[in-house]
Amino acid sequence: MAELLVLNGPNLNLLGAREPGHYGTTSLAAIEARLTTLAAETSHSIAFLQTNAEHELVARIHEAAHDGTRFIVFNPAAFTHTSVALRDALVAVGLPFIEIHLSNIYGREAFRQHSFFSDVATGVISGLGALGYELALTAAISHLQSR
Ligand code: DQA
Repeated sequence: MAELLVLNGPNLNLLGAREPGHYGTTSLAAIEARLTTLAAETSHSIAFLQTNAEHELVARIHEAAHDGTRFIVFNPAAFTHTSVALRDALVAVGLPFIEIHLSNIYGREAFRQHSFFSDVATGVISGLGALGYELALTAAISHLQSR
C-alpha cells in the first residue's frame, strides 16, 4: 500500500476551471501527475483521493491508519473552516500531515482565516498555488527519509 496519501476536499475536482484568480489554471489531474513523478523519483508509493463528501474523507483517513500510509498531504478545501469531524479523524489516527491550500487563506474573507487543522498539522502551506503540493510532498518525503 502507498506510503504517501494526498487528499483533496470539495470542489477541487474543478481545479483549472474554478475561480482561476484564486486557484490557478492547473487541473487536479496535472497536479497528481506531477506528484506521482516526484514520488517515483524517490521510490515512494503514493495514493490519491478527491471527494466532495466529508464522510468519505473520514473513512479514508481511518483506512490510512491500517494500510501502510505514513504521511498525508491534505487540502480540506471548504471543510478547512467547518470540519471538527475531519480534524478528529486525523488526531485519532495520529498520522503526520501537511495542510495545504492553493490560495492564501489568511489574505481572504474572515471566514476562511480560521482552520480546524493548522494547530494539529506538521506544517501548513497556503498561497503558493499548485507548486504548494510539490513543496508539501517534498517535505513529506524528507520527513519519511529522516525516520
Ligand atoms: C482552498 C481554500 C478554501 O477556503 C476553499 O474553500 C477551497 C480551496 C485552497 O486551496 O485555497 O475550496 O482550500
